[in-house]
Amino acid sequence: MIRHPLSEPDALTVIPANAGIPAPHQPTEIPGQARDDSQAARDDSQAARDEGRAVLTARDVSITYEVEPPVDAVREVSLTLHRGEILGLAGESGCGKTTFAYGVNRLLKAPGVMTSGEVTFHDRSGSDIDVTGLTGEQLRRFRWDKVSMVFQGSMNSLNPVMNVRSQLADVFTTHRPGMPRAERDERCAHLLDLVGVDPHRLSAFPHELSGGMRQRVMIAMALALDPQVMIMDEPTTALDVVVQRGIIRQIMRLRERLGFAVIFITHDLPLLIEISDRIAIMRDGRIVEEATAEQIYRSPRHAYTRQLLSSFPSLTGERGGFVRGGAA
Ligand SMILES: Nc1ncnc2c1ncn2[C@@H]1O[C@H](COP(=O)(O)OP(=O)(O)O)[C@@H](O)[C@H]1O
Ligand SMILES: [Mg+2]
Repeated sequence: MIRHPLSEPDALTVIPANAGIPAPHQPTEIPGQARDDSQAARDDSQAARDEGRAVLTARDVSITYEVEPPVDAVREVSLTLHRGEILGLAGESGCGKTTFAYGVNRLLKAPGVMTSGEVTFHDRSGSDIDVTGLTGEQLRRFRWDKVSMVFQGSMNSLNPVMNVRSQLADVFTTHRPGMPRAERDERCAHLLDLVGVDPHRLSAFPHELSGGMRQRVMIAMALALDPQVMIMDEPTTALDVVVQRGIIRQIMRLRERLGFAVIFITHDLPLLIEISDRIAIMRDGRIVEEATAEQIYRSPRHAYTRQLLSSFPSLTGERGGFVRGGAA
């Protein structure tokens, strides 16, 4: 990943410097708890084992909207997400990014149909889960627990008549029914803290929060069950640039700390170049180029990638020089 101002700690951070960076398999830590050296060594070796290991594989995924005439929104897409990495998925509006994300998490609704392909989740326990074959209860348990999602408009999907505490707690009562109430309350407060929202806001209702805060609450919810993968589809596009930067930084820090892998979807290629390890470029439902962020930036091979890059006038000069808005 390219180092850039977004990934550096700043005054906004809620993660203490002594917290260390747990390997992907580690559960969320309580801030302020330092770990001993043997724990750190175990984490290092786990991190080394995880390097390059796939957590999610999509093979030849095709999705069609069965309308008249049919729309082949995703065409034979194969992508591998490795443990702990950020995979950027870029491409202009309408190229099929959201449809692919829905397909991977089995959220497609009619008239969208996955006509071919396989999606496999490689669990940290070592077992593989055929996501395409999951049904009913299995699917319910898979989502949020293994793979969670944050969408552009998700901040508007909070229930207006429930406070933040109840909505966060809902994730635990549904997925961890045996969890004692005190632990649930503690986790809810900790989650808000993780995403940079004062835990006092637990009793707030959505209308009392700014758009940025609501989106942070949605990210907290997506983090609740310590997922191994987070799919973020334009998670900050609806927000203004300063708020957007703050949230992206927070996501980067959390990813480093908690070790989940991210599929980060946006039409904003400069942003992706800053935050991603690898980037896949999508056009008309196909992946036309897949490379490291560095390669995409320095030597894009596909003409369409070059076209996308040149459509951002800010993408000139040295890498990192295009970080928007300076020091905010
Ligand atoms: N419910 C739907 N019915 C028919 N076509 C759809 C539907 N949803 C999306 N599409 C079409 O599928 C294509 C991909 O859309 P989408 O996945 O939303 O792209 P992106 O997220 O890259 O903007 C577009 O041509 C879009 O018009
Ligand atoms: Mg979309």
